[in-house]
Amino acid sequence: MRHWWYGWIVGLGLVATSHAEEVIKVGVVLPFSGVYASLGGDITDGMQLALEIYGSEIAGKKIILITEDSEVKPSVGLTKTKKLVFQDKVDLLVGPVASNVAGAMRDFVHTAKIPLIIPNAGNNLLTGEKCSPWVIRTSFSNNQINGVMGPWLYAQGYRTLYLMAADYAAGRQMMDAVRRGFIGAGGEIVGEEYPPLRETKDFAPYLAKVKAIHPDALYVFFAGGLAIQFVKQYHAFGLKGEIPLTGAGWLTSPLFLPAQGAAAVGFTGALNYVPSIDSDENRSFQAAFSEKHQRTASEFTVQGFDTGRLIVEALKVTGGETDDKSALVDAIHGVRFTGPRGPFRIDPATNNVIQDIYIFQMRQVGYNIRHVVIDKIENVQDPPNGCKM
Ligand code: BEZ
Repeated sequence: MRHWWYGWIVGLGLVATSHAEEVIKVGVVLPFSGVYASLGGDITDGMQLALEIYGSEIAGKKIILITEDSEVKPSVGLTKTKKLVFQDKVDLLVGPVASNVAGAMRDFVHTAKIPLIIPNAGNNLLTGEKCSPWVIRTSFSNNQINGVMGPWLYAQGYRTLYLMAADYAAGRQMMDAVRRGFIGAGGEIVGEEYPPLRETKDFAPYLAKVKAIHPDALYVFFAGGLAIQFVKQYHAFGLKGEIPLTGAGWLTSPLFLPAQGAAAVGFTGALNYVPSIDSDENRSFQAAFSEKHQRTASEFTVQGFDTGRLIVEALKVTGGETDDKSALVDAIHGVRFTGPRGPFRIDPATNNVIQDIYIFQMRQVGYNIRHVVIDKIENVQDPPNGCKM
């Protein structure tokens, strides 16, 4: 039996639905626990700052973030993505941090045709062989950051390199990129080690091997808690004065630096952003962030900030409409700006960002430990690498 109020409730439901349509829902899948928890926090803080600065309401619709914890686990990342799409009915997605989680999410978002903006995970395949019109990356590819370093290190006079990275897609792809470039330039790889991503607590056995082989330089990729632990142990092992430490620049992120302290001094890395970039855009960004959070913004914060800005600018072009996903992606392709890291734009051929890469050295400058830029490679753009849109 239907009660007299049935139609009224349904009507209310409709009112509620049309009211709900006044928001633009961004589903955010990032790690808020596990080895990369702090990275997820910085990306979210960056996105929120961008919404405050560039506008969190477009054509009367409020942009809201619905966050889910990926736990840095591929199966969890995929489950949370499906929940955001089917249950929360998000208009677009942002995430994840880790390359293996991105790999797990790719087929689902491709089939569901929901735009996914990647604010960190560098998995080469997602803007290469397994690219998709719906997968756009504002951060970097693993090749983009590390590919420049092989020839650069050879040009500095290093002839033998030892590689060490967390054992998962990102670590393997980054070391492949360095190996290719270094061997191509004439150098030799004299050893490689891949400690587990989640379980590694002690680098001593790995560092003992490096010490025995004594390469011209060690090249590493570690982030999160692993980066803090690695830098401290490298220092404690007395290797700092003996074997130069080089690598993917996340090793000494502002996020990990307070815990690493002077042990970080001497590291040479490559990255798409360092806090010392000398530009008005970067200075005003750092000032706005530190006023709000009382700390230095990291490269992860910038990736979140630029992702938020990209979304706002694209939505302004579509007038806040998100139903036509192709129009939304076209609008994303049209956005260009100069942000804290420099010129920013998305390459429509791969959907990967085109950006400058900074080579820096950690130095003690007065009382501070700073990322000192020693070289810059402009407009680094990935080749399609098998990507056919
Ligand atoms: C990745 O898994 O792609 C990644 C994680 C942390 C820092 C950089 C890359």
